[in-house]
Amino acid sequence: MDPMDRGMRYTPGSSSDMNWELADTFLPASDNKKLKKKRGPGKVGIIVVVVILAAVLALTIGLLVWHFHFRQNLQSQKIYTGSVRIANQAFVDAYENPDSAEFKDLANQVMAQLKSMYSESPQLSKYYIGSEVQAFSEGSVIAYYESEFAVPAGQEAEVDQAVNRLSSKVRRVGEKQGPLVFDHVVSSALDTRLFSKARASMRYSQHAKSSAEEIITSPGFPDEPYAPNTFVQWQLRGDPGHVLKLSFDTFNLEGNCSNDFVRVYDSLVAVDKHLMEEECGYNSPSNPLNFISSRNVMLVTFVTNEEGNFPGFRARMTQISQDSSDLACGGKLGGTSGSFKSPNFPSYYPPNKTCQWDIQVPDGKHIKLRFTTFMVSTGSLNHCSGDYVQIVGVSTLCGKQPENTIVTVNSNKMTVVFKSDSSQVDQGFSAIYEVFEPTDPCPYKFQCDNKRCINPPLRCDGWNDCGDSTDERNCQCDASMIKCRNGFCKPMFWRCDGVNDCGDDTDELNCGCNVGEFQCNDNQCVSEKLRCDGNRDCKDGSDEDGCSRDICKDSTFLCGNGKCLTKPNPMCDGQVDCEDGSDESNCNCGRKANSKPRIVGGQEADVDEFPWQVSLHIKNTAHVCGASIISEQWIVTAAHCVQDEDKIKYSQPGTWEAYLGLHTQKEKQKATKRLIKQIIPHKNYNANTYDNDIALMELDSPVTFSASIRPICLPTATDVFPAGETVTITGWGATREGGSGATVLQKANVRIINSTVCNQLMDGQITSRMTCAGVLTGGVDACQGDSGGPMSVLSNERMFLAGVVSWGDGCARRNKPGIYTTVPKFRAWIKEKTGV
Ligand code: ARG
Repeated sequence: MDPMDRGMRYTPGSSSDMNWELADTFLPASDNKKLKKKRGPGKVGIIVVVVILAAVLALTIGLLVWHFHFRQNLQSQKIYTGSVRIANQAFVDAYENPDSAEFKDLANQVMAQLKSMYSESPQLSKYYIGSEVQAFSEGSVIAYYESEFAVPAGQEAEVDQAVNRLSSKVRRVGEKQGPLVFDHVVSSALDTRLFSKARASMRYSQHAKSSAEEIITSPGFPDEPYAPNTFVQWQLRGDPGHVLKLSFDTFNLEGNCSNDFVRVYDSLVAVDKHLMEEECGYNSPSNPLNFISSRNVMLVTFVTNEEGNFPGFRARMTQISQDSSDLACGGKLGGTSGSFKSPNFPSYYPPNKTCQWDIQVPDGKHIKLRFTTFMVSTGSLNHCSGDYVQIVGVSTLCGKQPENTIVTVNSNKMTVVFKSDSSQVDQGFSAIYEVFEPTDPCPYKFQCDNKRCINPPLRCDGWNDCGDSTDERNCQCDASMIKCRNGFCKPMFWRCDGVNDCGDDTDELNCGCNVGEFQCNDNQCVSEKLRCDGNRDCKDGSDEDGCSRDICKDSTFLCGNGKCLTKPNPMCDGQVDCEDGSDESNCNCGRKANSKPRIVGGQEADVDEFPWQVSLHIKNTAHVCGASIISEQWIVTAAHCVQDEDKIKYSQPGTWEAYLGLHTQKEKQKATKRLIKQIIPHKNYNANTYDNDIALMELDSPVTFSASIRPICLPTATDVFPAGETVTITGWGATREGGSGATVLQKANVRIINSTVCNQLMDGQITSRMTCAGVLTGGVDACQGDSGGPMSVLSNERMFLAGVVSWGDGCARRNKPGIYTTVPKFRAWIKEKTGV
């Protein structure tokens, strides 16, 4: 949205001045006419001629203004950065100096050939403005360039496709229309923030020395905070046969990457396919950010927006030989135990790297591999299509895996392959292998379901030592332990301590109430006799939860008086179906503010149009996920939003703040902020498959509903959303794959896709708890940052929460719908946990 805003505001000074001149000149002219008319009929002819001339002049000026002012505004400047390999040239040192005659000569040839390449494409030739070569590097010669196009509004996607087609054609068949032979092109559209004219820009070029470090810092560092509206780029190079190592020893930027950021590329131009990482926020010096390139070049860009002043950064650059042992990885491993890790661990691994370890242990033994740390970038695709670790014949892992993830092979040989692609790096992994006896995988120990072995006294001690809780299952609780309803045993002294240790609240029930009283989920006390009597005596109805009559609610609607209805979706349909009217009593939900007619496709939501939409921020930092209001104190989000990562404890309520009634991220001070009291992720959430991707958050205090804050209706457990039904998705997530988040809340309409079809499109990864929705031709979808937010469906003039944004394969790709958690499947669970 930012670029659009900027585009609309941009008005060249001279043409707007012209508008005012027009007004000044012609209003008096028509007044003159009236005055002169009174003076005498003889002059009428002259006046008519003058008026006509004036009108013609006004029309001409108007046309000119339209041509230069508005027509220009309807076009947007689009810059593609790219690199192209010139197969039939050899690198000479002078190519490093843009002022040398050799540089200029080759640059001119490259520009001429790019021009003739673009002229082959009808979509590109008409919008092409020109290209500029930024640098050359070794191998034969690689040219880095920027090409500029003036693209009329609405044609951007077509131009993107044409550029991609051209690049893949060059990769397939080469390009030799001129004297140069191009055999490999990588290019992508440049983020508008990297070329906005509103920013002061500085460009540097540095060559690593073998003896000393080169230092780069944000402007003003360490004496002053960095300035607003700055763009700085550093082209870094090393000698042939070397790679560059860049270590940030201080890094302190604003926490929101859509405001200020540093990007590190494995290239000399800012091309997305070689973006290693985008960084913002604070990084502790004890955990420095370290990058390694795959070749002898690297690009660092630093962008700041109009506000916020932070100290900035300092980084040191050195070059190391490609043969250095620092970069070595893979090989043959033996013995009965050992360890290995990804290159440069625990710093970022280099892009484009492949390592293979072949482990062979004594005959008759089997191998157990334990990853003490595992962080491998999945890239924009979720399912290990970016970087991965493959345990050949067993499994392929990527993303973030829990500490001490174990993989075993039932043989004495194991092959492990690590592969990184050209973009998005991460910290990698560290692994330990050891042998085990096939007959006794955990000698003298207890074996968890996840294959870990734990000391026997840790079993049934109330702590989850396995990591998957299997050491706490099937326990006989002794007198010093509480027997939780879900089968766990927890130490008695945890009873009534205000923490839900059992996970199902058993240890916190009947704490504050007198004998003979039942404590509701909201801590209210009601007479024990009222429990399961068919009436909701607790305000949250929890006295009727878990009762045998409750069984009806899985298949039908449960009225307040405990009666079940078989009518599908009776809630808030305008007809009283329950005797006690409870099906129509809680209908302050899902009312959408009126909005202008909409087109299918992403666009800005109107203010208050989706009053249940919540923006979840990491405290004092930035938007991370969406959520939906379901009551004064509860919101629903995705479980994957609340999983810990190495640096951030997403699972802790204290990490978060929720903004309700928010429209634009720029005005969060106008929204209602709440802290989080508790987070309940679904216990069967699976981080590998995204199954059961749903979580509940309780706000620290209730909110008062208003025009901008209102709950969405929850569907009943039996609701199904048929294929083809239109649903609405909303969020502040990225507006294109790999792009940055939106400032203003976005909305789009998509359609439910048949699950069988979807399962085929998504390689069999769809479970019955997932709903697919999208536009199969591509172009409309949720994306990174929309997670946890609502997929809403309109029924009886109210919006119901049909799904929660969960995952996808990239964003808005052809034949790749978005995947949503099916909320009806979790209706009973929501009721159980929240009483709503
Ligand atoms: N997992 C993403 C997030 O954390 C949401 C992805 C949705 N992707 C999609 N293509 N529908 O924000």
